Amino acid sequence: MMAQVQRPLVIQSQFIRLCCPRNARRTTGARARHHKQLHTSTVTDNDITRLASLPLHPLTLADLVKHGRPPLTTSQLLSSSNFTLSILPARLAHRIQSLRNLPFIVVSNPHISKIHSNYIHSLSTLLPWAEREITTIEDEVKFTEVMADLVQTHANTISILARGFLEARKYISPTDVTKFLDEHLRARIGTRLIAEQHLALHFSSQPHQEIMHEVEDPGSFVGVIDTKLRPAKIVQHCESVVSEICELKYGVRPHVVINGEQEYTFAHVPVHLEYIITELLKNAFRATVESGKEREPIEVTIAPLPEELVENGNNSGGNERSRAAIKNKDQGNTDIASNSFTGNDGSASPSSDEQIRPLAHSTPGVTIRIRDRGGGISPENYQHIWDYSFTTFNEDQAASTLSGGNSGSGMDALNAISGPGGDGVNSLAGLGYGLPLGRAYAEYFGGGIAVQSLWGWGTDVYLSLRGVGKVEE
Ligand SMILES: Nc1ncnc2c1ncn2[C@@H]1O[C@H](COP(=O)(O)OP(=O)(O)O)[C@@H](O)[C@H]1O
Ligand SMILES: [Mg+2]
Repeated sequence: MMAQVQRPLVIQSQFIRLCCPRNARRTTGARARHHKQLHTSTVTDNDITRLASLPLHPLTLADLVKHGRPPLTTSQLLSSSNFTLSILPARLAHRIQSLRNLPFIVVSNPHISKIHSNYIHSLSTLLPWAEREITTIEDEVKFTEVMADLVQTHANTISILARGFLEARKYISPTDVTKFLDEHLRARIGTRLIAEQHLALHFSSQPHQEIMHEVEDPGSFVGVIDTKLRPAKIVQHCESVVSEICELKYGVRPHVVINGEQEYTFAHVPVHLEYIITELLKNAFRATVESGKEREPIEVTIAPLPEELVENGNNSGGNERSRAAIKNKDQGNTDIASNSFTGNDGSASPSSDEQIRPLAHSTPGVTIRIRDRGGGISPENYQHIWDYSFTTFNEDQAASTLSGGNSGSGMDALNAISGPGGDGVNSLAGLGYGLPLGRAYAEYFGGGIAVQSLWGWGTDVYLSLRGVGKVEE
C-alpha cells in the first residue's frame, strides 16, 4: 500500500526523498533524531487568530521565479528563505482556522483531527523561525530541513481527509464537503508550492549534482518550474502510466493519438500538469473501455494560445482566458467556505479583490483537448462531476468504501487519489476527486478545465493553462 511516489519526470520528489527520506526512517531511525533537532514552540490560539487574520495574496508563477535561476548565490538563497518564511505561517494558520470552523463532530473525526494536528506541528516548527530573519547559510540549511519536514508531514493529506470525510458523511453534506475541500486543497497547492520551490532552489544551488542527472535539461528548471515544459512529453509520460493501470484493470488499453503543436513549450509546474493530465486520461480510458470502444483512439490536441491574444487581452476583460489577474478565490485564499460553517458570511475576510495583482509578464499558454469516444456523461451525472467524491466508478466498490473499513476495495478507492508530491497507488478511478482537484490545479494559475459531453458519443475536455511568460535572466 501507499507505494512511493513514482514520478520519474519530476525533479522535486528527488529532493524530498533525499532530504526527508522515508528510507531513513525505515533503516536507521534517522528521522526520530532529526525530529528532536527541530525547534518547536507551542502555538497558542492567539498566534493562530493573529496569523489567520493576515490577508493571503494571490501567488503568481512570477513570484516563484523572482529569486533568479539556479544555482542561486547565497544572498539569493537567503532571500528565498525569507520570502518563504514571510508567507507560510499565515497560510498554515488560515488552514488551522478553517479546519476548526468545521462542525465539531467532523473535526473530531480521527483522520480530520490528524490533519489539524499536522498543521499545528508545522506551524510550531515554523514560528521560532518567523520571529527573525535568516542571515547565514547555516540557518538556511536548517530552515531547508524544516521545509522538507513540512512537505513530508503533509504528503498524505488528501487521502487522509478523504477518509475522514467519508466517515463523517452523516454529519456534513456533500455540498459542504465540496466547499471546504475546494478551498482547503487550493490553498494547500500554494503552500506546498512555496515550500517545494525553496527546497528545489536550495538543492539545485548546491553541489548535489547526483540529483540533477535524471532531469534531461536541468538548465530549464527554476526550482519546481520548468521554463521549457513540453506538454506533449507530459502527455506521453502520463499515457504510459495510465495505460499500465488500465491494462491491469481491464486487460485492454486504448491508444492515444497526440496531435497539434507537439513541440510547443511554456513555463509551468510539471507536477501540476502531470497530475491533471493523468486524471483526465484515466477518465477517458475508463469511459472508452467501459463503453466497449477500446479500438477508438483517445485524441489529445495541443493548441498554443496565440501570443497576441494574450498581449492585447491584458486586464481588458473580455476573453476569459486572456484576463491577466489570478483571483484569490482560485487559490483558496478567501476563507468563504470555512466561514460559512460559523455563520460568518466571510465579508470580514481580509482578502479582497484589492489584493489581486496582474502577472508581471505576459502569459502565453496552451489549451489541451482530450477527446474520447467513451459515450459521454449523462445529463443527471453532468451536474455533479465537479463535486468532490462524486463518482460512477464501480458501484459495488463505491458502496463498500462507503460502508467503511480500511480493507479491500475501500483502500483501492482511497489509493486512487493522488496528487503531486502526494500519496496514491494508482487505480483508474475512485472517489471522484479527479475532476474537481484537477480543476483546482488548472485554475490556480489562471487556467481552467471545461468538460463538454456529447451524451451517447463521447467527451471533450479542454484544459487551458497559462505560462509564466518570459523568465528574466
Ligand atoms: N471522459 C469521461 N467520460 C465519461 N464520464 C466521465 C468522463 N470524465 C469524467 N466522467 C464522469 O465524472 C465522474 C467523476 O470523475 P472524477 O472526478 O475523475 O472521479 P472518478 O474518476 O474517481 O470517478 C466519473 O465517475 C464519471 O462518471
Ligand atoms: Mg477520475
